[in-house]
Amino acid sequence: MENVRSLIDILELSVEEIDELVDLGAKIMASPAAYAHKCDGKILATLFFEPSTRTRLSFESAMLSLGGQVLGFSEAASSSAAKGESVADTIRTVSCYSDIIAMRHPKEGAPLVASMNSEVPVINAGDGGHNHPTQTLTDLLTIHKEKGRFDNLTLGFCGDLKFGRTVHSLISAMSRYQGTRIVLISPEELKLPSYVKKEVLQKNNIEYVQTTDLEAVMPELDILYMTRVQRERFFNEEDYLRLKDSYILTPDKLRTAKEDLRILHPLPRVNEISVAVDKDPRACYFQQVRCGRYIRMALILKLLELA
Ligand code: NCD
Repeated sequence: MENVRSLIDILELSVEEIDELVDLGAKIMASPAAYAHKCDGKILATLFFEPSTRTRLSFESAMLSLGGQVLGFSEAASSSAAKGESVADTIRTVSCYSDIIAMRHPKEGAPLVASMNSEVPVINAGDGGHNHPTQTLTDLLTIHKEKGRFDNLTLGFCGDLKFGRTVHSLISAMSRYQGTRIVLISPEELKLPSYVKKEVLQKNNIEYVQTTDLEAVMPELDILYMTRVQRERFFNEEDYLRLKDSYILTPDKLRTAKEDLRILHPLPRVNEISVAVDKDPRACYFQQVRCGRYIRMALILKLLELA
């Protein structure tokens, strides 16, 4: 709809806007009380047609922390989607009840369709194996806090690069910075889709390598982005079982890593990072969770034009 700004793909935000959001997220994190009434009287709707812990609750926590209120559903079965209602009709309805909508859906493109039928901003909270821009904002705030910069970083992405939507969005975002190097670590069957390689990495002349060997590339990495093998996106259980334990990060495998490596993971973790790694000062995934709340506060303020 005209005059309403949604966020469906991370590249809809310019590099300058990302800097502003990251700055604002850090400011809110430092003094949250100053923002406690910015959204008084506003309502966020969370429409989750797929499971979630962090994304949905961090959106709700973000709106409540801004003084607003929240409504929504956390599974398709409890909405009229179960009766056969279209995404377009659901959104037309919910945009009568709310000021901003965060939506997660198993179908790629569903949040885009939603944004075309909404009177209020729609935020893509994950669409199938495609994109997840607000996880990327979370990752960027974490990287900025830990490294102080976005340029000249070597990022290793490990695990399910085929279905991992957080990987696709973060690679898109990082492809705009000078000196980005990408190391893709996955089994053959779970390699980064060729459309991401062509349209993002090759188009932007990003230096990248593909490997199956995590330990061989460990010493090069500034950021190690671990991911879960996405069971729900496999066509058969047999393939999932064969691939699920491809990479398990243990303290031993970190022996050759840089002192200032930072380990990120969007979570949930299944077993791809051993809990023994949690004590390593380079493990950052729970700080990342905290960043998710504050960057979503910044995003809500921006899209509602209250920042
Ligand atoms: C991720 C997702 O939903 O894509 N989780 C999240 O939003 N923090 C990653 C995953 O489910 O593995």
